[in-house]
Amino acid sequence: MNIILFGPPGAGKGTQAKKLVDFYGIPQISTGDILRANVREGTELGLAAKAYMDKGELVPDEVLIGIIKNRLQEPDCEKGFILDGYPRTVPQADALAVILDEIDKPIDVVLNLQVPDEELVKRISGRLMCSKCGASYNKTFSPSKKEGICDICGGEIYQRADDKEDAVQNRLKVYKKQTQPLIDYYSKQGILVTLDGTKDINEVFKDIKAVLAKFA
Ligand code: AP5
Ligand code: MG
Repeated sequence: MNIILFGPPGAGKGTQAKKLVDFYGIPQISTGDILRANVREGTELGLAAKAYMDKGELVPDEVLIGIIKNRLQEPDCEKGFILDGYPRTVPQADALAVILDEIDKPIDVVLNLQVPDEELVKRISGRLMCSKCGASYNKTFSPSKKEGICDICGGEIYQRADDKEDAVQNRLKVYKKQTQPLIDYYSKQGILVTLDGTKDINEVFKDIKAVLAKFA
């Protein structure tokens, strides 16, 4: 199953991707996570990406296309993959089509999680992440059992630099301008399914599984 999880920042792409990994045993490819790992490790890529990410701007297309091309050819993608946070621009989507054509792995479905802006801002400003395993928490909706400590791995929990107010507003603007046009792009291809992302996390997952039942 080859899936794109699509939606604005805070729509729940990462949250649902993790549940899909557990359920279907196919990998999550989150370009945000890949970039953040590079920032943490201080790689050349991470240093170049950090300035864009902290402001809530997109990292240049060429960088992302290179990352995705390599990642999709790794053996764990053989049975399928979940793209989370890629593509985010029309050139990225065009490049993806070429890559997937070469390896003969067409996208089955684009799951578009729809959530209004006020709810997105609420979710993002409350989000906390584990610095070790990447698990996601929310101060209001799903806090960790022990404050500041990850339930899963005991790692330290922190707030992403781009989850601060200014960067969040800019990420929403960037989404509308550069990423939202992909709704039309995939809708024209007949592979876009829009879901109500405002429901409870497990309800959204149930809806996703109902859509994916056709492809399993
Ligand atoms: P990225 O890491 O992809 O961030 P994003 O798209 O802004 O998305 P988020 O991770 O903020 O939201 P999400 O949809 O995953 O929501 P989550 O599940 O965490 O990208 C970061 C940056 O990297 C970009 O700004 C850019 O600079 C760069 N980048 C990445 N990819 C790129 C690309 N392709 N091209 C160029 N640049 C790129 O949920 C959010 C919160 O809500 C959590 O606290 C969660 O617990 C809670 N929540 C989730 N679902 C629900 C629910 N149903 N009800 C209540 N709360 C919920
Ligand atoms: Mg995410």
